[in-house]
Amino acid sequence: PSVGQTVPAQQPAVAVASQPAGKLTIIYASQTGNAKGVAQALKAEADAAGISAELFSAGDYKGKNLAKETHVIIVASTHGEGEAPDDAIELHEFLQSKKAPKLPNLQYAVIGLGDSSYEFFCQTAKDFDAYLAKLGARPMLERLDCDVDYDAPAAAWRAEALDKVQETLVTADAQVVTLPVGQAVASVSAYTKQNPYAATLLTSQKITGRNSGKDVRHVEIDLEGSGLTYQPGDALGVWYDNDPVLADAILAKAGLSGEESVDVDGQAVSLRDALINSYEVTAANPQLVTRYADLSGSKKLAKLVEDKDKLREYAANTQVVDVLAEKKTALTAEQLLGLLRRLTPRLYSIASSQEEVGEEVHLTVGLVEYAHAEETRQGGASSFLSRRLEEGESVKVFVESNNHFKLPADDNTPVIMIGPGTGIAPFRAFVQERDNRGAEGKNWLFFGDRTFTEDFLYQVEWQKYLKDGVVNRIDVAFSRDQAEKVYVQHRLLEHAAEVWKWLQDGAHVYVCGDANHMAKDVHDALLTIAEQQGNQSREQAEQYLSELRKNKRYQKDVY
Ligand code: 2AM
Repeated sequence: PSVGQTVPAQQPAVAVASQPAGKLTIIYASQTGNAKGVAQALKAEADAAGISAELFSAGDYKGKNLAKETHVIIVASTHGEGEAPDDAIELHEFLQSKKAPKLPNLQYAVIGLGDSSYEFFCQTAKDFDAYLAKLGARPMLERLDCDVDYDAPAAAWRAEALDKVQETLVTADAQVVTLPVGQAVASVSAYTKQNPYAATLLTSQKITGRNSGKDVRHVEIDLEGSGLTYQPGDALGVWYDNDPVLADAILAKAGLSGEESVDVDGQAVSLRDALINSYEVTAANPQLVTRYADLSGSKKLAKLVEDKDKLREYAANTQVVDVLAEKKTALTAEQLLGLLRRLTPRLYSIASSQEEVGEEVHLTVGLVEYAHAEETRQGGASSFLSRRLEEGESVKVFVESNNHFKLPADDNTPVIMIGPGTGIAPFRAFVQERDNRGAEGKNWLFFGDRTFTEDFLYQVEWQKYLKDGVVNRIDVAFSRDQAEKVYVQHRLLEHAAEVWKWLQDGAHVYVCGDANHMAKDVHDALLTIAEQQGNQSREQAEQYLSELRKNKRYQKDVY
């Protein structure tokens, strides 16, 4: 390995008598990169502890090799409704299939990352845990299911897990063991989630019309001098501050002044500053509602807590301040913070290519708004980026790479991009990149939004790309320009024969945007196209899309 780039403390390659001789295999199932980050940290810590460890993405790991392993740690995130990350679907399926080998020699541990507001919290981790146990493997320690604020619990679990590994790896007395020399960690930049770059906002411009029902911004951020680099398909992590007005409203509901001193990561700060900089104070979640039902004695909340579905729905549509308003209750500063989660950064799909914009990064930010009684409540990060952050001010960012959403390596490959609403963002990056590279492959864009006049995001740019022949086809679906709804999946079906032809020609299909409805409806449309145009049964069509996905020809970035 090259010298000077190593992140973990280097261990010399020397003979040590009492070091373990076996090997630890770390497998991560990651959708947005969080699980990968935890797995990489584990690998670095194992290296530092002199444990020989290998790191794999679940997509690159052959399930039958588990039979040869003695120590495996799986780091798994869950997405959608309890589904495994795309890259891990194969391994997940394999382990529950008849083909899975018995694993009597395997010791394992699983850590899950998820969001406890979802019903199928950490389901993928639970599945892996159950499958391995069923195959006869033995857990080294209990599985940990981490919530969104996972950094500290995950770090503590990793330390415990590595202790177990060290205890149980075969100790080769007197055998000469060469410690792994710290791997050069391919780090593009020194800036990370924990150590973000203070970038500068260049511009933030509303790109929906005056009469649009939505506020969508084109945001440009300066990265000059940061060394940060990214690829089309990657995301930008953005740390944000909460609205001081909202922090004050919360303090008022809890009967607190905000001047109370509280501890945040070992530092004494005012409660008001903690609310603004360190805690989530916008979206509620089921735990918060449950705890506040207890603290406040609110009958309405107590009733909600009894019905899991109603509770989840209420939490998803209500902000913290409005939960507190259900029954104003005097709280201590500790009680208030005990209700809240720590702030986590938000990931935005990057809307630019560095081939085009150099040391800048562009985002397409939709302002999240909820109507609550008389008030309009806004999303924390989106209101920060589109309302509070002024041009010239600084915003803490980092790059989160996404290997599951990448242009084809071959520039001649055609691509079909389906991105309604802010789902358009990565396709602006894709097209900028393909244009600058002079890629010969054809590009077909499906875009949808509410109305042509108010909501056609980047319309002028798309029309120019079309005119210049950079983009070969654009099909739009404006859902509210006529009596009946027209969505991107309807356009796909209208052009089924051509879509099928593109697929036969090797096209890659990319879907970005809403996960709850759009991505599922688009998936159904693709199944129908395979059935009708390819004369396939439903099952064959499903198999076909599954093959496309495995071959990285069908990729999704949905939220
Ligand atoms: P609507 O709000 O008029 O129903 C971007 O938000 C666009 O996606 C809007 O035009 C929105 O339409 C549309 N949309 C809503 N539900 C959808 C679905 N299930 N599939 C595809 N597009 C959808």
